[in-house]
Amino acid sequence: MATAIDQLRVDLLSQVAAAASSAALEEVRVSALGRKGAITEQMKTLGQLPPDERRAAGQAFNALKDEVAAALEARKAGLESAELEARLAQERIDVTLPARPQPDGRLHPLMQTWDELVAIFGEMGFVIAEGPDIEDDWHNFTALNIPEEHPARQEMDTFYLQEHDGHRPVLRTHTSPVQIRTMLTQKPPIRIIVPGRTFRSDHDATHSPMFHQVEGLVIDESTHMGHLKGTLIEFCRAFFGIDDLPVRFRNSHFPFTEPSAEVDIGCSRKGGGLTIGAGDDWLEILGSGMVHPKVLEYCGIDSTKYQGWAFGMGIERIAMLKYGIPDLRTMYDSDLRWLRHYGFMPLDVPSMLGGLAR
Ligand code: DAH
Repeated sequence: MATAIDQLRVDLLSQVAAAASSAALEEVRVSALGRKGAITEQMKTLGQLPPDERRAAGQAFNALKDEVAAALEARKAGLESAELEARLAQERIDVTLPARPQPDGRLHPLMQTWDELVAIFGEMGFVIAEGPDIEDDWHNFTALNIPEEHPARQEMDTFYLQEHDGHRPVLRTHTSPVQIRTMLTQKPPIRIIVPGRTFRSDHDATHSPMFHQVEGLVIDESTHMGHLKGTLIEFCRAFFGIDDLPVRFRNSHFPFTEPSAEVDIGCSRKGGGLTIGAGDDWLEILGSGMVHPKVLEYCGIDSTKYQGWAFGMGIERIAMLKYGIPDLRTMYDSDLRWLRHYGFMPLDVPSMLGGLAR
């Protein structure tokens, strides 16, 4: 028995010494000490020995087990530190290398402005709503209390599509039809903004046939014109980044609001330029008002119980004002030089806390 144990000892210790990696060493451990390993298998034969020999052999096996376990442990520590050394050498980074170039793409100022609007109104608790670009006459005009003879409905202003099923589809002329779609499908309280594409038959330095608007709508049992004013004053000041920006509400008319107000911000036009926030002049930036009871009734909302307010503004217009872009048509020219000048870094996401512009 003693020679068999000696033989096993020499065998196992040389296997431990020969293992070239932690994984190979683990295989040696299992084949030596595992449940089906060499030592375990040999110990099973102890029962066949006479009692006096059995005792001595048992002790010898236990000693061998300890010795192999210690050899495994020592070899493991050696291999692991060698492997760590090798990894450290391989994964070394050269901190003296030049930085990787910044990505060359830019975010269009229109999309930057869109993100800023969403960030500001999002902080105020508004959620985004959407609707289709191709609308029907009823959502775009009728349900918004826009009468048949209103100029907005005329062929020369609106892109009509071919009549179909007795309806005349239109490319929506404003984002206001999403007010109707939301009130028809959601119960108050409602607090939405609607950024989106809009279309009119217009083309000059400040108008494009496809442009963008953002609509806002709040409906509940107690909201009032004070909330409209407070929200829009706060929005104008946050968007232009001027804490004391003068904001004025001027009496106006929209078929879907009563009363209606246009919102102007303070500016100066001295010397031919335009400076926002300073001076004694005014610049119109958006339309607003209390939702007309007829509009609520068209949407099945009880106008004796609920009331609300709405607003709408052109995204190109406020982007041009904020970023000093003189001609709207350049926004759609896809001129890379223009985009490099007016564009934003894509990961520079605006937020109320982090700031809204570089
Ligand atoms: N839809 C109007 C337009 O395109 C803008 C507007 C004005 C929207 C007043 C509103 C509002 O929601 O209350 O000219």
